Amino acid sequence: SRPPVIAVDGPAAAGKGTLARRLAAELGLPYLDTGLLYRAVGRRVLDTGADPADPAAAEAAALGLTAADTARGDLRGPEADRAASAVAAIPAVRAALLDFQRRFGAQNGAVLDGRDIGTVVFPQAEHKLFVTASPEVRARRRFLEMQGRGQAAEYDTVLAEIRARDEQDMNRAVAPLKPAPDARLLDTSSLDADAAFAAAMELLGVAA
Ligand code: C5P
Repeated sequence: SRPPVIAVDGPAAAGKGTLARRLAAELGLPYLDTGLLYRAVGRRVLDTGADPADPAAAEAAALGLTAADTARGDLRGPEADRAASAVAAIPAVRAALLDFQRRFGAQNGAVLDGRDIGTVVFPQAEHKLFVTASPEVRARRRFLEMQGRGQAAEYDTVLAEIRARDEQDMNRAVAPLKPAPDARLLDTSSLDADAAFAAAMELLGVAA
């Protein structure tokens, strides 16, 4: 039978990336971090000096996206977060990235993480997880992550930015962040990475 598509959606810093990467390795599936696509588009717009919320500039950046753009070193951090969330609200940007995501998963199956994988990109995915955690827990994780990278960070600022990005991602008109009706919910607020992985394997019905 065809290898499965596994959709891992949820808000910023809920632990989706770590979890999705590990599921892919465990199950021998390709992995795609779809947030990276939006981050790279946001960076391309910033490079041109345009506003990431400018639909024409953002669409041009999305249509011209190359693999090298997703490998640049400046895709993490508050500026990239904001730019990604801004371009992600533009329908033409989402449309431009849709085919690539679908082709990535269609052939050999895949684990994809993002905001709309289970609702829009692969509504027929065999497995869907919606990974959440409280804003405070997510802010703390992101704060520690930034400290680890040597980026200046303040917890209160990180928490405010997480809340702002949740707002923007949940309330946009196109492909808003929300669980697919058939998604399994996984709250990682009190779980470390190992416990989240074990819980996910159980929800997916795969023995760890
Ligand atoms: O997952 P990550 O935090 O890297 O995503 C960055 C931004 O890209 C999100 O805040 C969201 O606005 C956007 N995004 C999206 N749809 C996806 C993945 C990311 O809208 N599938």
